[in-house]
Amino acid sequence: MTVSSPTGPDPRRILVLGATGQVGWELLRTLAPLGEVLGASRDGRFGIRADLAKVVELGPLLDRTRPDLVVNAAAYTQVDQAESEPDLATRINAEAVAELGRLAGARGLPVIHYSTDFVFPGRATHPYREDDAPNPLNVYGKSKLAGETALLESDAPAVVLRTSWVYGARGHNFLRTMLRLSRERHELRVVDDQIGAPTWSRMIAAATAHIAARLLHSPPDESTGLYHLSAAGHTSWYGFARAILDARGGECELHPIPSDDYPTPALRPAWSVLDNSRLARTFGLRLPDWRHSLGQCLQDMQGE
Ligand SMILES: NC(=O)c1ccc[n+]([C@@H]2O[C@H](COP(=O)([O-])OP(=O)(O)OC[C@H]3O[C@@H](n4cnc5c(N)ncnc54)[C@H](OP(=O)(O)O)[C@@H]3O)[C@@H](O)[C@H]2O)c1
Repeated sequence: MTVSSPTGPDPRRILVLGATGQVGWELLRTLAPLGEVLGASRDGRFGIRADLAKVVELGPLLDRTRPDLVVNAAAYTQVDQAESEPDLATRINAEAVAELGRLAGARGLPVIHYSTDFVFPGRATHPYREDDAPNPLNVYGKSKLAGETALLESDAPAVVLRTSWVYGARGHNFLRTMLRLSRERHELRVVDDQIGAPTWSRMIAAATAHIAARLLHSPPDESTGLYHLSAAGHTSWYGFARAILDARGGECELHPIPSDDYPTPALRPAWSVLDNSRLARTFGLRLPDWRHSLGQCLQDMQGE
């Protein structure tokens, strides 16, 4: 089965890798007006099976599906687990993306791919720009940096979108964890010294649709390259949790704690706010403030 919206006799075909993920699931909807959207996932639930850990299967997948555009929302995203599975994280986030770049380059096939604020060490005093030097603190960040670098160095007409702190109505994310824990517990302690921009998966997908339309309908031009794509504004995980609990009410008490009181296998950047001005200059896209999108997302989730 495909999720499709034919736009004429020759609809463009868009292959979405990672269609079960937070961003991938939203992409199946936001990309639909642009053509025929083929959703690929490990379990094949949208009709196409694709496991990025099996890098050699990517070529046959492209031959079979013959897309006009690939959007890669698949990734190994378990940041802490990556510390003990570096080979698997590297295969999915770096080697598969490098192979996608090689294959797409040979076919002149445009690719949109996502990367992360975790490529930065988090010690900046200004929002990170695309030309600031990356230096990831953890295995996940290193694997994502290797992937974006390989894709940008390939011949593929590629747009790489670095985003941050992704949440949405589906999947594993901080918003859903906070909503669940605040129902189960009387008290929660949340880290207050890591700063970033919580970004709604639907906003990422909406911006991606705009970029996809450009890539599908104009020749690959100077709009390819690396972009930051995160919500406006920034907060700490505690600030994010505070806003969620304030909006949803309830009795749960919230306490700010330093990262030292919540040790995790992977180190995380303390301050990874992204400067999104290149995206605004090139595509005219500006994501709303994180609080605004959080309110909309919570409205969508009413009753859950
Ligand atoms: N989540 C964040 O906070 C965050 C922050 C910054 C950047 N990003 C980036 O944004 C992009 C989208 O992230 P997301 O939050 O939507 O991720 P997500 O919800 O964790 O979804 C990840 C997707 O990748 C798929 N996947 C994992 N291993 C795979 C494999 N071996 N082969 C094929 N598919 C595989 C998953 O499929 P299954 O359902 O089969 O597991 C799932 O569809 C990723 O590039 C991520 O690195 C995310």
